[in-house]
Amino acid sequence: SARGEENVRSPICCIMGHIDTGKTKLLDYIIGRNVQEGEAGGTTQKIGATYLSARNILEKTMELKSDAKLNVPGLLFIDTPGYKFFMNLRSRGLTLCDFAILVVDVMHGLEPQTIECLNLLRKRNTEFIIALTKVDRLYGWKTCENAPIMKAMKQQTNDVRNEFNMRLNEIIDQFKDQGLNTELYYKNKEMRETFSIVPTSAISGEGIPDLLLLLVQLSQKTVVEKLTYVDKVQCIVLEGKVMEGYGTTIDVVLVNGELHEGDQIVGPIVTTIRALLTPHPIKELHVNGNPVHHEVITAAQCINIIAQGLEHTIVGTTLHVVGPDDDIEAIKELVMLDIKSILSRIDKSGEGVYVQASTLGSLEALLEFLKSPAVKLPVGGIGIGPVQKKDVMKAGVMLERKKEFATILALDVKVTTEARELADEMGVKILCSDIIFSELMKAHNAYANRVD
Ligand code: GTP
Ligand code: MG
Ligand code: NA
Repeated sequence: SARGEENVRSPICCIMGHIDTGKTKLLDYIIGRNVQEGEAGGTTQKIGATYLSARNILEKTMELKSDAKLNVPGLLFIDTPGYKFFMNLRSRGLTLCDFAILVVDVMHGLEPQTIECLNLLRKRNTEFIIALTKVDRLYGWKTCENAPIMKAMKQQTNDVRNEFNMRLNEIIDQFKDQGLNTELYYKNKEMRETFSIVPTSAISGEGIPDLLLLLVQLSQKTVVEKLTYVDKVQCIVLEGKVMEGYGTTIDVVLVNGELHEGDQIVGPIVTTIRALLTPHPIKELHVNGNPVHHEVITAAQCINIIAQGLEHTIVGTTLHVVGPDDDIEAIKELVMLDIKSILSRIDKSGEGVYVQASTLGSLEALLEFLKSPAVKLPVGGIGIGPVQKKDVMKAGVMLERKKEFATILALDVKVTTEARELADEMGVKILCSDIIFSELMKAHNAYANRVD
């Protein structure tokens, strides 16, 4: 059955770490795709979910000749942003996952968000593996595409191995300063007290088989401890996107339970699931790229949902499924609570720039960022989704009061043509995300360097 031999759901693995340590690239390598290079500014700004089947995972560990079994349908990976102000998304990602990969750049060691992630992981008691990545950047590294790490290490000169060991020992010491025992995974004899480090490269694939094998072992262990499937649906909206012929559709991560075609769902509006789609399995991609339709989908999975009225869904919120005994009005109230908690954070004086983001999560992050000492930019209004005429109208209110605030900061969202025209006409500025992020990050870094 879809639930695997033992009636367990697929485990969820969260990928965490400091900015630019290579989290997305690592996932890209594992899945065999390239998402990272398409990201605005090369920076992840939302939670992403990707499913890999058990068969695919085991295939990639074959060279290690282990007799590992994987009694789950697959593994769902959740990628999180490392950017400082996305603490909310890291923490949300972590609440969804069963275990995690903490990514550390071998050339940089522990960095501020590494430590933040480490503390989040420990607070939640989440098991994790440390991927010590970018080993291909060691001076003189000889590429051994896809090789298990011990095999790759044997090919290296003494100089490379020495540099690696020196950096590794430094990083082990840094972890020790944080109160954590760590060790290279193949030397780790006391898994319970000592956390495993796997050296990897997301460019040439060294150590990837080892990383996957450790994930298989963690999955098996988790299966026994806590993966027993429960019926209660737990589902989070990750993204909304327009698909030709379907209008707005949403990507969700189903953490637990089942979704069916025909299920009644509640975001801000009540609607019925018309179709459930997953991407075509990677193996057969060259045969047929069309998504696969499902009547039922079992957790954990990432799913594209087609239904009417989804343009009103707010990304980052929980998607509720109406059961036979449920009160729809009560569920609607729950949905509004999510949204209100964010609205409550903006300045009530109403004087400030207008902030528009694609998701609730990135909006939260941007608000945190604008509040920080380097920026201290007041926010007068917020919006989610594409910038429309109504947003320009709202931002335009500032033209009379404080002209410099008559600006929309558009993070990772489209601007409709009508909105753009109206903004030009009224004299409202619209700054888009690439610019915001690079400009604000520059300001922020300059500030950080000054005080440190
Ligand atoms: P955020 O999502 O912004 O926190 O970054 P990230 O951790 O997802 O890092 P990302 O995958 O965006 O990679 C950052 C940069 O490092 C990119 O330029 C990658 O090409 C590069 N990179 C990632 N992994 C490796 C690696 O194993 N080796 C080398 N040489 N470069 C890498
Ligand atoms: Mg990333
Ligand atoms: Na990045």
